[in-house]
Amino acid sequence: MSLERAQNTCNLHGAKTVFAVIVIFMGLIVVSLTFSWLDILRINRFVTDLLKESSDSSQDDCFNCFPMDLRSMISPDRLCDGGKVDVLLLVLSSVTNRLARDAIRSTWGSLCNSLNSSIRLAFVIGNNLNKTYNSFLLEESNEFHDIIQADFRDTYANLTYKTMIGLKWSVTHCSSVKYVMKTDDDMFVNTELLPILLQAAPNRNFMGGSCWGPSSPHRQTSSKWHASLRQYRKPLYPPMCSGTGYLLSRDVVGNIVNVSRDVPFFHLEDVYVAMCVNKFAVSPVSLNGFSIMIGSFTPCAYRNSVITSHQLSPETLKKYWADSRTCPLSLLRPEQLFKTSRVV
Ligand SMILES: *[C@@H]1O[C@H](CO)[C@@H](O)[C@H](O)[C@H]1NC(C)=O
Ligand SMILES: *[C@@H]1O[C@H](CO)[C@@H](O)[C@H](O)[C@H]1NC(C)=O
Ligand SMILES: *[C@@H]1O[C@H](CO)[C@@H](O)[C@H](O)[C@H]1NC(C)=O
Ligand SMILES: *[C@@H]1O[C@H](CO)[C@@H](O)[C@H](O)[C@H]1NC(C)=O
Repeated sequence: MSLERAQNTCNLHGAKTVFAVIVIFMGLIVVSLTFSWLDILRINRFVTDLLKESSDSSQDDCFNCFPMDLRSMISPDRLCDGGKVDVLLLVLSSVTNRLARDAIRSTWGSLCNSLNSSIRLAFVIGNNLNKTYNSFLLEESNEFHDIIQADFRDTYANLTYKTMIGLKWSVTHCSSVKYVMKTDDDMFVNTELLPILLQAAPNRNFMGGSCWGPSSPHRQTSSKWHASLRQYRKPLYPPMCSGTGYLLSRDVVGNIVNVSRDVPFFHLEDVYVAMCVNKFAVSPVSLNGFSIMIGSFTPCAYRNSVITSHQLSPETLKKYWADSRTCPLSLLRPEQLFKTSRVV
């Protein structure tokens, strides 16, 4: 082969390469105009999640995968003894939230746990790594007898354990209660109206609160309620009620505890409960007065129509409670308070 021919081939190669580079470059420009860089990252994550997901055991294929045999640390065993108990309030709290618990005890909680009250209230708490705090909690329990503590790490990601431990506790220690209500320690709950409202509620197959139909999971990682495809594969959650406050009839509580063994752990407790409830064909209903926000305050609203209100600091709660005592209690009939709307 002559030197000249070799150079020609080389030039031809060079031209092809340059052409290919230009094509790729223009292709990249088109792609980058179509998708932003963030989109590409998102698609990339979607695909990785999907790949990870398919290598995991499937979400539906789960047997005995959510065991709740966590060690009990504190249990107010006699809480539901004596008297007629209509509703048990499970208030999710944490070891360090003593001020919130005290504010509840001195406001809406003060109408619970006496023998002449039909409401029982217990705070549900996990295990704090700081042993000092745990010993404070034991002292608090000895004083108020209203604390359920179990041995799981007390973190936001473990909230589902709190709810499920509370529900399981109610099955074993409060078995004749008619209803269980799950709520949080930054809530106002109208314990004056609740027993009246419940007189009109169904006593079987019932779940109610601030509820909605099928909804999309929050896929953006910045969300407090973020759920990756790996954690939840389907496009929609089942109908659900906000974790700020939902009521369950006793049979539903028993069924949730029973089916939970075969429903894999999911970190958002209200979604998890909805996933369980969805297994036995109970549809949640929305109830008037169950607010997931703080809303504007008037003494009469808080006394006579608001059933739940969210995100109250201990100081605000005490102030609202005191102010709402200045408005007289209306004599409302159960049917006037128990107003439902279907969500599905
Ligand atoms: C229930 O008993 C407590 C004391 O145990 C008392 O302070 C409260 O007023 C009683 N409530 C009613 C409605 O009788
Ligand atoms: C545990 O909490 C106590 C009380 O707040 C604090 O003094 C102590 O330093 C904490 N211990 C650890 C190991 O964080
Ligand atoms: C949840 O609790 C379990 C049991 O204590 C613990 O192993 C796990 O690390 C906790 N998860 C988180 C995210 O804190
Ligand atoms: C849950 O399971 C237990 C044990 O199998 C059973 O005794 C109970 O009746 C079940 N509860 C409900 C509500 O189905």
